[in-house]
Amino acid sequence: GEGNAFDWGITFRNLLWGALITVMLTAFSVFFGSIGGALLATASISDFKPLGWLSRIYIDFFRGTPLLVQIFMIYFGLPSLLQQIGLDFTFNRFAAAVTALSFNSAAYLAEIIRGGIQSIDRGQWEASQSMGMSWLQTMRYVIFPQALRRMLPPLGNEFITMIKDTSLVAIIGFEELFRQGQLMVATTYRAFEIYAAVALIYLLLTFVASRVFSWLEKRLNPVRRA
Ligand code: ARG
Repeated sequence: GEGNAFDWGITFRNLLWGALITVMLTAFSVFFGSIGGALLATASISDFKPLGWLSRIYIDFFRGTPLLVQIFMIYFGLPSLLQQIGLDFTFNRFAAAVTALSFNSAAYLAEIIRGGIQSIDRGQWEASQSMGMSWLQTMRYVIFPQALRRMLPPLGNEFITMIKDTSLVAIIGFEELFRQGQLMVATTYRAFEIYAAVALIYLLLTFVASRVFSWLEKRLNPVRRA
């Protein structure tokens, strides 16, 4: 009837809001994931073997099980476990979403960081150390700047993966872009237009991310900068 004419204005505003939430969710998750990933990478290259084993188990678990299952384990499983030992704990959806996505991304980022660091010739460690540099100085001034350049392409991929995979938290009711789309379809019945718009917005976000990373690659390339 005339009463429920499809309103593109409202739909568009809600989807843009969802896109903003998706960008924030991605940024938070990659940020916390990088901290975790750096720690895991450091542990996995350390000479103290048990640390290496622990980080290996972490990485294997989070890469070898579906992100969807991890989201359920954190959002439903963790509060249920804590209830069994008498703690009354419930997750809010944002915290659960950021936690699950950060834990997952940390595993992938750990491998990216470890790979980048290990790709730099061992001789550079020996040379720096023979000049009296500490482990931290060698990492900070010699190894990391070179490793970062090599990490950029896989980091860009990880960002793009995360932009898209944040949509999995729609299933716990967190209202990011895809969930906003679902809610709009439920009230307007315009499934095609709305999911196409949702897809286009994801495409725009991943396109921008990939451009930013190509630009960074050029920026950090000492040859082209000269
Ligand atoms: N979608 C796949 C899954 O459910 C891959 C997740 C990839 N995650 C990442 N941080 N790259 O497990």
